[in-house]
Amino acid sequence: MTPVASLPDRALLDHSRALIRSLQTPEGAYPASPTFPAYQGFCWFRDGAFIADGMSAAGDVASVDAFFAWCARVVRLYRDDIRAAVAAAGAGEPLADHDMLPARFTFDGHRGASDEWWDFQLDGFGTWLWALDAHATRHGVDLSPYTDAVALTVDYLVSSWDRPCFDWWEEHDEQIHVSTLGCVGAGLEAASRMGVLDQARAHLAASTAAAIRGVVLTEGVVDGHLIKWVGSTAVDASLTALIAPLGFIPADHPVARATVEAVESALAVDGGMHRFAADTFYGGGQWPLLSCFAGLARAALGDTDRAADYLAWAMSTATASLELPEQVDRHLLAPEHRHQWIDKWGEVATPLLWSHAMVLRLGRELDQ
Ligand code: BGC
Repeated sequence: MTPVASLPDRALLDHSRALIRSLQTPEGAYPASPTFPAYQGFCWFRDGAFIADGMSAAGDVASVDAFFAWCARVVRLYRDDIRAAVAAAGAGEPLADHDMLPARFTFDGHRGASDEWWDFQLDGFGTWLWALDAHATRHGVDLSPYTDAVALTVDYLVSSWDRPCFDWWEEHDEQIHVSTLGCVGAGLEAASRMGVLDQARAHLAASTAAAIRGVVLTEGVVDGHLIKWVGSTAVDASLTALIAPLGFIPADHPVARATVEAVESALAVDGGMHRFAADTFYGGGQWPLLSCFAGLARAALGDTDRAADYLAWAMSTATASLELPEQVDRHLLAPEHRHQWIDKWGEVATPLLWSHAMVLRLGRELDQ
């Protein structure tokens, strides 16, 4: 196994923890990136939940508690919107996408003022529930203060999980994305076992999660592996998250190994993982955080040497000042598109807190 505890690696892990802690806002939010203009001032539930999971695994209980308290406050702020979405779905006239909850929030919990973002995304609301439960299980946290926020989130997801929405990459809102289904299913399953919901709601969360798993394992599978969206034959690297850390597809299910292998054969080059084959964002480079997800899935399959190779690759993307980027340009899928993004938003987001958190999370997994 790659020695994850060797000096430079340990320095990167220590730096990652310290960086995330230092950038967490007084409100408890984890900013996506402190410097990248398009992300500055915002926290995503998706990034934040995985950042919290990395920090929880690394033992930063107080930081993670503050983040989940922030999530709960945001959900409460949107109580009326959630109730409206649930009522509209129940009446058979679902709200328009732009009236659903956004994917990212300012640190005080609002939509940005001139926010024209690809906002309707459901995965983060599942992911925060999943990460909250994982944290509570790991550290014995009392979840009773979260009861109302968990219930609101469950109601929202139960009412709307089968709607098309933007995916992890904030694209293709006309599709039903299998990764999104997995995040929502994992979150509902987690909520059902937290012990804070009334019995009827807990049952509904569990039965909806079971229905989602049924859809994922039928409509979400082609040639034995998970696919990017219902109706596609392509894969997306985010699918490996369903095996680990989300555990929505058990590692011993045949679809798990087939999915990891299909993702690797389509998207991994020398340990660096692309998002999907048609990616053009910043020329379609390789994402350290996705190499870490693949590593976690490999570890769940029992392939720890391969998991360690992914960690080593992700760590190799750190800058001289130990900052991890969103992506690197070692093997671009669409080099002709790189400059249009640099012209629009500047150089690739660096540091990206989600990248740092995934290195922490996989490092912990392999340390154990
Ligand atoms: C990614 C999202 C991410 C956001 C903030 C976007 O470019 O596609 O997955 O949530 O950046 O990090």
